[in-house]
Amino acid sequence: MDRLKEKVALITGAGSGIGRAAALLMAAQGARVAVADREGQAARETADMIEAAGGGALAVTVDVMDEGSVAAMVGATVEEFGRLDVLCNHVGGTDPRADLDLLRLDMAEFDRAVALNVRSTLLGCRYALPHMIEAGGGSIVNTASVAGLVGDVLQISYGAVKAAVINLTKSIAVQYGPHRVRCNAVAPGAVATPALLDNLPQNVVDDLKRINALPYLGTPEDIGHVMVFLASDESRYLTGQLLVVDGGMTTQSPAAPTRRAMLPPD
Ligand SMILES: NC(=O)c1ccc[n+]([C@@H]2O[C@H](COP(=O)([O-])OP(=O)(O)OC[C@H]3O[C@@H](n4cnc5c(N)ncnc54)[C@H](O)[C@@H]3O)[C@@H](O)[C@H]2O)c1
Repeated sequence: MDRLKEKVALITGAGSGIGRAAALLMAAQGARVAVADREGQAARETADMIEAAGGGALAVTVDVMDEGSVAAMVGATVEEFGRLDVLCNHVGGTDPRADLDLLRLDMAEFDRAVALNVRSTLLGCRYALPHMIEAGGGSIVNTASVAGLVGDVLQISYGAVKAAVINLTKSIAVQYGPHRVRCNAVAPGAVATPALLDNLPQNVVDDLKRINALPYLGTPEDIGHVMVFLASDESRYLTGQLLVVDGGMTTQSPAAPTRRAMLPPD
């Protein structure tokens, strides 16, 4: 109940999906949470859910692609709660209809991908860090993806920018470790959120279950629990790391689903 007692957490993209789950779980562990999202109404709904459960929350409307907006988001959080201990740079993604293979990629989508995933993460850290340093430490949790670890047939920008988020995480961990600021990343696999379900045809969703070691897709809470751990002092000796939370998707040999048929019957 109080793994994050006394802590203030700021989560971007907390109006929906994984970000909302993380916000609710962190609040349930005692954190006061700044719920930031481009959709102000969605942010308000998450904050209302936290307050209805007896927690402390602030709804912030932000466009993480806009530097002034990111600065204002951090400023509003510190003004409301007096400190900032945890930052989750969760917003990200690309449009799989425009983010195709190398020759058919829409370059405007590539530029948007860099701004939405990498520049936004860098800016969030840049504005939050001085407050963490002043307070004697903090924890940053960046959302990467398994797409940043493997090559894929489409979404060439998405893989590249998530790989960049992983490296940014390591550099920030190294640069600000002496100030006791930790920086880690989480790489979700297939998680049943609007972002995934709205963008993928049903046969692709079914296929994702088949290639996982575990026979199911993740829930937003499956990622949220890991983010709570990274935010808490339980992970105080963990920094610069990527936690892959993918149901074993990137662990399993691609041949395993077919080779399973070679096993003798039970
Ligand atoms: N869902 C998955 O399977 C999966 C897998 C790997 C990684 N991820 C990563 O998780 C993150 C998305 O999380 P989700 O699955 O919870 O998605 P989601 O669509 O449920 O939520 C994304 C939230 O971000 C907000 N948002 C979008 N653009 C914004 C902007 N410019 N400024 C502020 N807020 C903005 C949206 O309004 C929305 O509330 C991304 O970084 C994505 O790459 C998701």
